[in-house]
Amino acid sequence: MKSLAGKKIILGITGSIAAYKAAFFVRLLVKSGAEVKVLMTESATTFISPLTLSTLSKHPVITGIADGDEWSNHVELGLWADALVIAPATANTLAKMANGICDNILNAVYLSARCPVFFAPGMDLDMWTHPSTQANIQKLLDYGNRMIEPESGELASGLIGKGRMAEPENLVKALDDFFRKVSPSQTLAGKTVLITAGPTYEPIDPVRFIGNHSSGKMGKALAEKVVERGGQVKLVLGPSKLDISQPGIEVIRITTALEMLAAAREIFAQADIAIMAAAVADFRPKFAAKEKIKKKTGEEEMTIELVKNPDIAATLGKMKTKDQVLVGFALETEKPLVNASRKLAKKGFDFIVLNSLKDEGAGFNHDTNRITLVFKDNKIKEFQLKSKLDVADDILDAIEQII
Ligand code: CTP
Repeated sequence: MKSLAGKKIILGITGSIAAYKAAFFVRLLVKSGAEVKVLMTESATTFISPLTLSTLSKHPVITGIADGDEWSNHVELGLWADALVIAPATANTLAKMANGICDNILNAVYLSARCPVFFAPGMDLDMWTHPSTQANIQKLLDYGNRMIEPESGELASGLIGKGRMAEPENLVKALDDFFRKVSPSQTLAGKTVLITAGPTYEPIDPVRFIGNHSSGKMGKALAEKVVERGGQVKLVLGPSKLDISQPGIEVIRITTALEMLAAAREIFAQADIAIMAAAVADFRPKFAAKEKIKKKTGEEEMTIELVKNPDIAATLGKMKTKDQVLVGFALETEKPLVNASRKLAKKGFDFIVLNSLKDEGAGFNHDTNRITLVFKDNKIKEFQLKSKLDVADDILDAIEQII
């Protein structure tokens, strides 16, 4: 979680059984390079010991407006932080926050904080659904605070339902997503990234072609995320309705596989990374008629002779130097992992992105996708169904690990 490195986080812990998860949360934050200062309400200290948290955070834990004869400067703390996270946030604390009540250090810091505030509710099902809790949450959201949604499952009471504080990994992810958006780390600065995307159309005659339903959306998402990370994109795009005009993305529009090959070869010679997201037509008509083909009287069948298109990815795989990273995609209906790793070896990919065909919402024309990454050493990494933008982040994270 590079985006959390160097970030100053105040964690406010309130008195819910989920407070025990705060120890794991602090550990993950510190591991990500964040500096963490912990505030606890008095009732939180009955659920988890301040000693555990001061040891993990490497900072004294603040539990009161005054600690001994020292005054805890809540204004200073509120200004110090890049984010204030209240996790778990009880119904009681949410009510106080929503109404400006300031009877402990946590609420004092909340009221004086200028940084973004996150709250992760942790409470029992009925407290969560109570209209007053929901009204308080709505108020807090209207004030610009951000909620990290509770999860559903078994609660401390034994009841099953919504109210369980999000798992520490998900708390970290919410912060990581936030910081990435506000100040994406320029991890691909100075890198040129070739992306092939969309379908190719192979002409039969001036008005007909062989093609496929690829939308180019995955390629667009990848291009946007590369730019967010400071890289330069050369997007070789087959016929697509997408409107892509953004600084940092040069779009080279092509129609056929042969044109895509010519553009990709030229660009790859100067590129650091290539991502082959295009759905290239495997065959093209041997001859494209110059004029529109007319039906002949009595003709019931017609045959179009096809010839194989060059494999663009494999061509780049042969050109690839040890400093370049080459990533491919695969869509398989049978033995997906075996076929994907075969393809990876054949084409010289560093890893291959296996698209799921089974999930609703994955694949062509959707805004979501579910992928599995298969690496050269046969390691695999599976992901959940996500937006194509989030999938693009996962792919770029894997590329950055190789670089
Ligand atoms: N690819 C390519 N040029 C081609 C065919 C495929 O660059 N002529 C790239 C795709 O962009 C993708 C990867 O190769 O990254 C795998 O594509 P796919 O069509 O699944 O593989 P094929 O080699 O065509 O295998 P098959 O159709 O037999 O599954």
